Amino acid sequence: PVGARTIAFARAHSNIALVKYWGKRDETLNIPAVGSISITLDALSTGTRVTFDPGLDANLRQDEFWLNGQLTQAHRVSGLLDLVRERAGLTMRAVVTSTNDFPTGAGLASSASGFAALALAASAAAGLTLSTRELSMLARRGSGSAARSIFGGYVEMHTGTREDGRDAFAEPLLDAAAWPLCVVVAITDHAAKTVSSTHGMAGSRASSPFYPAWVDTGEQDLAEMRAAIVGRDFPRLGELAERSCLKLHALMLTSRPPLIYWNAGTVAAMHTVRELRDSGIPAYFTIDAGPQVKALCDPGDAAVVALALAETPGVLETRTSALGRGAHLVAA
Ligand code: PMV
Repeated sequence: PVGARTIAFARAHSNIALVKYWGKRDETLNIPAVGSISITLDALSTGTRVTFDPGLDANLRQDEFWLNGQLTQAHRVSGLLDLVRERAGLTMRAVVTSTNDFPTGAGLASSASGFAALALAASAAAGLTLSTRELSMLARRGSGSAARSIFGGYVEMHTGTREDGRDAFAEPLLDAAAWPLCVVVAITDHAAKTVSSTHGMAGSRASSPFYPAWVDTGEQDLAEMRAAIVGRDFPRLGELAERSCLKLHALMLTSRPPLIYWNAGTVAAMHTVRELRDSGIPAYFTIDAGPQVKALCDPGDAAVVALALAETPGVLETRTSALGRGAHLVAA
């Protein structure tokens, strides 16, 4: 499509890891040190339009990136677009317009949905037809967790062994419809400004005495989680998800400088989830590089779980999500 203006629009959903990713084996190619397993979330998505425009060529050194209606720093977006241009033999600059359908700046992960939508929209606008595996590896270059958002339902990301990263991609484990699950997000801080994950991971790797143990036990966690998913064993899945989350935060807390992502509301929400469980409602928590708590539960228990979390001191609001689908193109 050299010379012509081309447009594509894609939507991708965010995901939450049940077995967490933290640490890279290659920073340039963005290859995770260990695999991870996630679920894709229906209620959190990003819609992204990419327009390659020959009219932009002349004096622009950068692409133009609009996020939620505001002109934004395009550095990371351009990095991904460069990979697409290189592959498609294009030189045109692009205008990228991206909108999150969830409150921005609420500390809800948006890099996963954002880079998955960008990878799909940019490759389609460039005239490339990539397999989902190729798309996953492309999205990985923007953000490790984005590689998983190419797929819906239950997803596993592989670290691979190759130095070129050609075997570090995500794959679907199970369809969303095959085993419905709910996630209730308890938001405890709207202005969550955190240490970037890349920065935090590099710090943990360099300084936490727990990092070698984290890497050594990763494969075992993945195997156990796979078995829980295959067996549709929710208590097992929940226990394993909590264990991976607490291991991740132990790693963060023992990094120098320490990464403390929790606030009082985060801890209170963790206890609420444990109290729900003591009262007979199977619910399990997980927390990423931020102060929000995500409770995993059966769809039939979601209303009770959301109410208990909403009444927890320090919880500002809750948002409930079912499992969602993979990244897909939408008529531009
Ligand atoms: O995709 P990144 O680089 O933003 O890293 C994600 C890190 C965690 O959210 C904490 C864990 C994960 O596996 O999603």
